[in-house]
Amino acid sequence: MNPRPPAPPPVAPSVASAPVAHNPHYERIGGEATITLLVDRFYAHMSEREDAQAIRAMHGPDLRDVKRVLVNYLVEWMGGPQRYSTERGHPRLRRKHLSFRIGQAERDAWMVCMRAALTETVSDDNLRRELDNAFFKTADFLRNDQGTPHEHSNR
Ligand code: HEM
Repeated sequence: MNPRPPAPPPVAPSVASAPVAHNPHYERIGGEATITLLVDRFYAHMSEREDAQAIRAMHGPDLRDVKRVLVNYLVEWMGGPQRYSTERGHPRLRRKHLSFRIGQAERDAWMVCMRAALTETVSDDNLRRELDNAFFKTADFLRNDQGTPHEHSNR
């Protein structure tokens, strides 16, 4: 069975209530500009890497919409303006990912792309580590394929 979901993934103390101006994560990463770059690089890696082709194939050929949605989601997740929920309501990420088969291999392929993108776009080592941890927790929480045992040796 899937482990209980970790508390909502935000690295920010409270996405719902943190005033943007006082949210250290959103400011530390460099706001929307860096998040947009992060998402661009993330999908570039997903499109280019051999080991990510299975998860790339879950997406349509045109990534523009999903990039915009992921930018909005991450902006809000880190404490910026609440554009994602204004547009799309409660994220319900687990439910939204149920139509894709996500096991350990898919989770790890997603993380490989996100790590590569983080390395390229976030120079603050501590912040990068915090984001890496938070992404891993979320990616692991989204696993819906029970076939493979859970390992903690991802890093
Ligand atoms: C674990 C491996 C993951 C896989 C294989 C995966 C795959 C996908 C796919 C195929 C979509 C639909 C794209 C489309 O509409 O064309 C999607 C949507 C989305 N994913 Fe993931 N994802 C993963 C992890 C994550 C993680 C860790 C996050 C957040 C940190 C995330 C956030 C989102 C968001 C925000 C959307 C859009 C939801 C919406 O429609 O409102 N995903 N994902």
